[in-house]
Amino acid sequence: MTSFSCSSNVSSTLLISIWVSSLIIASAGNFYQDFDITWGDGRAQILNNGELLTLSLDKASGSGFQSKNEFLFGKIAMQLKLVPGNSAGTVTAYYLRSEDSAWDEIDFEFLGNLSGEPYILHTNVFSQGKGDREQQFYLWFDPTADFHTYSILWNPQRIIFYVDGTPIREFKNLESIGVPFPKNQPMRIQSSLWNADDWATRGGLIKTDWRQAPFTAYYRNFNADACIRSSGASVCNSNSPGNNDNAAWLSEELDSTDQERLKWVQRNYMIYNYCSDTKRFPQGLPEECAVNNSS
Ligand SMILES: *[C@@H]1O[C@H](CO)[C@@H](O)[C@H](O)[C@H]1NC(C)=O
Repeated sequence: MTSFSCSSNVSSTLLISIWVSSLIIASAGNFYQDFDITWGDGRAQILNNGELLTLSLDKASGSGFQSKNEFLFGKIAMQLKLVPGNSAGTVTAYYLRSEDSAWDEIDFEFLGNLSGEPYILHTNVFSQGKGDREQQFYLWFDPTADFHTYSILWNPQRIIFYVDGTPIREFKNLESIGVPFPKNQPMRIQSSLWNADDWATRGGLIKTDWRQAPFTAYYRNFNADACIRSSGASVCNSNSPGNNDNAAWLSEELDSTDQERLKWVQRNYMIYNYCSDTKRFPQGLPEECAVNNSS
């Protein structure tokens, strides 16, 4: 793996021009190499020489893992296969999060359901400790039948959530109108499977059926095109096979086809949008809603 290292206090314009000029080829992810199991006392396992990771949940505990690296911008992809059958009450979370008390966070959360009833994909964006930006979706497939790719593009201009390459949500950098945007705090990838039957399924109406335990979720094919922080420096790399333009993700945006697909998802699969919830914000919708609410 070739990589380019640079000090973090150079201006971002200079960094970007340096990133653009560095060409890198690297290997695919391995769970032993890229992640630490953080809790669950044996309920999280890395299998198949590091190619597969499983999380499980039973009445005593859930489990979780996090990336060894901290990222400051990146295009992060993972394939997940969610808890099958009756998964009501369980939540599988997969997100980026920084450590400070005024933390940044970019969330995917999968809320389980009774057999045959749809999961909810819950998303949120926190900047400087403030979230309250939920959007929820149904999926156009059964996320328990097979692996699907869930990605986060996080660059200085925008955050985009993708499902199998289809954009489902965009959160733009609107610092120009006073909306804080996550761009100074490095984040780790975190994931966990836990019991949240007080709210997850039909707002807490349906409880976890412990007779179905242990519940298991599966992870594979992690990939990060990202800037990795280590001892104050930033190393940017690209793991995408055949990726010749190492830094394309740093300025990536939705083209007109992507924007159509995003609208299609929001029209047909979005079931909650904080930007439409006028009751919740009697003082007026958050500023970003005027720009980000494309539905
Ligand atoms: C579970 O299924 C019910 C009934 O179809 C639906 O209203 C709900 O949105 C589904 N998902 C969750 C997580 O509650």
